Amino acid sequence: MRQSYTYVANLMSDFPTRFREAVGAGAALVQAPGTSDSVHAFARSVAAGLSDEPKWLHYRFLYDAEGSRLFEEITRQPEYYPTRTEAKILAKHAGEIKDVTGQVTLVELGSGYSVKTEYLLSAYSRDEEPVRYVPVDVSDSALRAASRSIAETFSDVEFTGINGTYRSAFPVLRQLSPQVLIFLGSSIGNFNDAEATSFWRSVADHLPAGNFFLLGVDLVKDVDVLEAAYNDAAGVTARFTKNYFARINGELGAALDLSQIEHSATWNPVLERMEIYARFHADQQLYVEPLDQTFDISAGERILIEVSRKYRLPKLQREFTAFGFDLRRVFTDEKKWYALLLLERIDDTLLRASYPSPTR
Ligand code: AVJ
Repeated sequence: MRQSYTYVANLMSDFPTRFREAVGAGAALVQAPGTSDSVHAFARSVAAGLSDEPKWLHYRFLYDAEGSRLFEEITRQPEYYPTRTEAKILAKHAGEIKDVTGQVTLVELGSGYSVKTEYLLSAYSRDEEPVRYVPVDVSDSALRAASRSIAETFSDVEFTGINGTYRSAFPVLRQLSPQVLIFLGSSIGNFNDAEATSFWRSVADHLPAGNFFLLGVDLVKDVDVLEAAYNDAAGVTARFTKNYFARINGELGAALDLSQIEHSATWNPVLERMEIYARFHADQQLYVEPLDQTFDISAGERILIEVSRKYRLPKLQREFTAFGFDLRRVFTDEKKWYALLLLERIDDTLLRASYPSPTR
């Protein structure tokens, strides 16, 4: 047991070296260690959430190949304004963003199909020098599709994808300086408070002073607009929710009746976040074969599968300031539904010891 842990630790500490070599060799895709989600990791996560009260499931497992495809379809629904709004802001201000950062490497967390990033790539590939683009995503199929599409559109983009979690990419950020780290889609809104704090701390710790962080955040707005965005009339978001349970059936050997599971997304005004639940219409047993454990879910029970926090800029500003970031620019749409923040990591050697610690 001890030996296998040592082995994993070695692989992890070796990733920056392996990544540098892969970039040198012109590899289009690098597999980060310990992140190709084993069925066991999935099973353990499901068991942890279903043992808790109230029950939850971790949103990360929404994005298998089918889930990534469905999310992409969500972004094209008329009610789902975030993607379209963010894309408009990017299209309008990509040149200005590049003017602030200069010609730097683009690193993107949770890049998916990299559709919106193409606006930035256009701005950054206008110079003589080729631009390096390092997208990071847990979906290997999305990365491959992105690589093909970018190769078709741009001749001067050096693409090196990392197939792994956000966290797997942190150890290589230092070697990618100078860079702009990109985190779009308000994906930061998926984190609970402890995850958000640990995320900010990791970004602060791995991004050297003078590097940039481009963050897309969805803002607090009318509840009807919010709830419509997560309950699209075509039912794509509902299928996205159901796919979680299809994945549990397929990978964990469960036999859930998917027709008895309903998608439900509601605004939580106290925590200022959308909450996405799967509501069970009938008693069901969820068998997790790899662990040989069964969980009982009762008729009427709701399982929280995703939160999507919405932001107010003053509060967010206090948060990133505490982690050593300066606000260089804010871009928003006319309705002020969405904001794109261009932050710069500043030298805060004196401040570092006092980063807020994660709360539970
Ligand atoms: C990918 C996290 C940005 O929270 O809006 C959309 C995910 N889930 N509809 C979001 C999502 C259901 C999305 N993010």
